[in-house]
Amino acid sequence: MRKTLLSIAIALAAVPAMGQKKPMREFVDDLMQRMTLKEKIGQLNLMVAGDITTGGAVNTQVGGSIAAGDMGGVFNIKGADKIRALQDIAVKKSRLGIPLIVGMDVIHGYETIFPIPLGLSCSWDLAAIEKSAQIAAREASADGINWTFSPMVDVALDQRWGRVSEGNGEDPYLSARIGEAMVNGYQGDYSRNDNIMACLKHYALYGAVESGKDYNTVDMSHIRMYNRYFEPYKAAVEAGVGSVMSSFNLVDFVPATANRWLMTDILRGEWGFNGFTVTDYGSIGEILNHGSAATLKEASVQALNAGTDMDMCSQGFVATLEQSVKEGKVNIATIDAACRRILEAKYKLGLFADPYKYCDAKRRKKDVFNAEHRRAARDIAAETFVLLKNENNILPLKKSGKIALIGPLADTRANMAGTWCVAYTPDKYSTLRESMEAALKGRATLLYAQGSNICADEATQKAGEFGKTIARGDDKQMKAEALAIAARADVIVCAMGETADMSGECASRTDLRLPDVQRELLAELVKMGKPVVLLNFSGRATVMTWEKNNVQAIMNVWFGGSEAGDAICDVLFGDKVPSGKLTVSMPQTTGQEPLYYNHQNTGRPVPDYTPDFHKYQTNYLDVRNGALYPFGFGLSYTTFKYDDVKLSANEMATNGSVKATVRVTNTGNRDADEIVQLYIRDVVASISRPIKELKGFKRISLKAGESRDVEFDITPETLKFYNSNLKHVLEPGEFLIMTGPDSDRLSAAKLMVK
Ligand code: NOJ
Repeated sequence: MRKTLLSIAIALAAVPAMGQKKPMREFVDDLMQRMTLKEKIGQLNLMVAGDITTGGAVNTQVGGSIAAGDMGGVFNIKGADKIRALQDIAVKKSRLGIPLIVGMDVIHGYETIFPIPLGLSCSWDLAAIEKSAQIAAREASADGINWTFSPMVDVALDQRWGRVSEGNGEDPYLSARIGEAMVNGYQGDYSRNDNIMACLKHYALYGAVESGKDYNTVDMSHIRMYNRYFEPYKAAVEAGVGSVMSSFNLVDFVPATANRWLMTDILRGEWGFNGFTVTDYGSIGEILNHGSAATLKEASVQALNAGTDMDMCSQGFVATLEQSVKEGKVNIATIDAACRRILEAKYKLGLFADPYKYCDAKRRKKDVFNAEHRRAARDIAAETFVLLKNENNILPLKKSGKIALIGPLADTRANMAGTWCVAYTPDKYSTLRESMEAALKGRATLLYAQGSNICADEATQKAGEFGKTIARGDDKQMKAEALAIAARADVIVCAMGETADMSGECASRTDLRLPDVQRELLAELVKMGKPVVLLNFSGRATVMTWEKNNVQAIMNVWFGGSEAGDAICDVLFGDKVPSGKLTVSMPQTTGQEPLYYNHQNTGRPVPDYTPDFHKYQTNYLDVRNGALYPFGFGLSYTTFKYDDVKLSANEMATNGSVKATVRVTNTGNRDADEIVQLYIRDVVASISRPIKELKGFKRISLKAGESRDVEFDITPETLKFYNSNLKHVLEPGEFLIMTGPDSDRLSAAKLMVK
């Protein structure tokens, strides 16, 4: 009899948790009733899948854990067949058949690689950015992925920090809009099988690590958090992001992952987040290094009780939570809540209805790295380049004569893509040199020399390569070769800067200039007196003070992705007009960092760009205030004239609105896009407010000679800030409403709010 009952129980439990006929709440209730505590905790465990191949999967440690119901998800495994094999284990071999959530760092594209996020942000093109996320989702989901660890919206003010490259620059308003666009692009409505769940990161304040050193301490007032750092996270939550990743850093001296105020009170309480949270890689284990827990068990208790649902790779939850429940340190209700949120995510993705929804082998062929996606990547890449200088309009170049292409970034495939592109396939696209050869074929001669190493010191170069190697040679000899080909050329194009992984995770730098040997080579080339164009590859704002004074044309090309080579040619040779604008302030010298346009005034302010030194005022002895190139700056092949801003009224009620209008005219002879920017300043408030803050922008297309009135609505939302009580308020009084082409060249009108 006992035997029969047991076999019935086993048979019932083994019915895979499939079909989604019931509404989510009911479905998950029903499933959870059948789950043991161990199985619930298993759902909270996320691991890297490792190199698992079809068939062999069940025998590996990961396969074993999945079969035992000890794993809720896996990540960073590429290939629908491998993922299908893992999903098979979850569905067919685990007791309840709960499917896996399958994540990946799909940061700026899957196989079709888009520009690095910092580059994308310089397009200010929200529709194109949303499309890039949609395409990334389409490709990743065709290969079995249903969850991406993106967008990253960490506001970053210090360019020494390498992960500036993965975010949207220094401005919270712009980053908020980009975060929303990316969430929409990735997630859609989950009804199709080509949308995936997004994961907002790194919550919170990761971009404020002290001295720009990765993983470093963060310490700031709550009022600064609310007014400068929280906005993009909140916006992405309000856009419906499905999951949120905690950051590595301390927040109020408690690791973010274990910070209940952050993970629960703010995220869920104030912002109404109802998805699930996940740690960053190994963060629970790192609580021990932070010194706020003595054991992995204690750290796991802290993390779970703070509101962390899923443990990425620390294995703290699976190893210790059962025991902590027994000891009364964790309530089952807390585990239930975490488990429920993860199961709900799987339900929303439709994984219970069809665990193989994202493993459609036929889709890979047509949906991954196809011509349409590559075209979109090429188009948006061209919008991200920022033309910083163009003396005597030497750009665009003519496709004629002899062009020398020189520099260590000219002929490297892997480095085009930029940092952190897990699924990229560098053998499938061209280097800049190859793209230029194709663009110039039959019309001009391309001469090429590498010219230099990335930097003189081999160990430093290797540290910044992370597998994307650039061959080393003898610097003296390479320079001689470069000078020899430059001597034969009419114009010199330099492809110089950082390697892709001199920015990104754990890639902080203390000197933001072009690396040594490249600087020396550039100086020699400039001495030749021929036109020189510098294409600066970078994952952050770099220092180009010497270059600004000495090189005729400078274009920042970031890392433009798999289509970067062709996109650079589009702009270099004038098939397209550059339109990108900086989303980071380019400093005059590294010592100015953190440098950002939207700073507060001191009691002894010296306005940015004041030419002289002022004793006993806020300025340096050796460098004037302000950026080399300000936030929002970027040139075009045409010119734009801005009239002064006009307001529909000079007064506004606290619940009213006014319109700000600025007339913009394309005064040159090329049709082009322009990014028109709106800033405000709250002149006197209960707390000190920034000297200016971006509050709106419009990317418009103007034909040569065309004028357009660009309108912005000024509403209470535009003017509000968080006061000392952390209340979002509009305080009556005087505001300045400013419009212009960048954060420095603005016209202002006074608005009285009553
Ligand atoms: C660590 C990084 O901080 C995070 O951005 C990434 O998503 C995870 N590793 C997973 O690879």
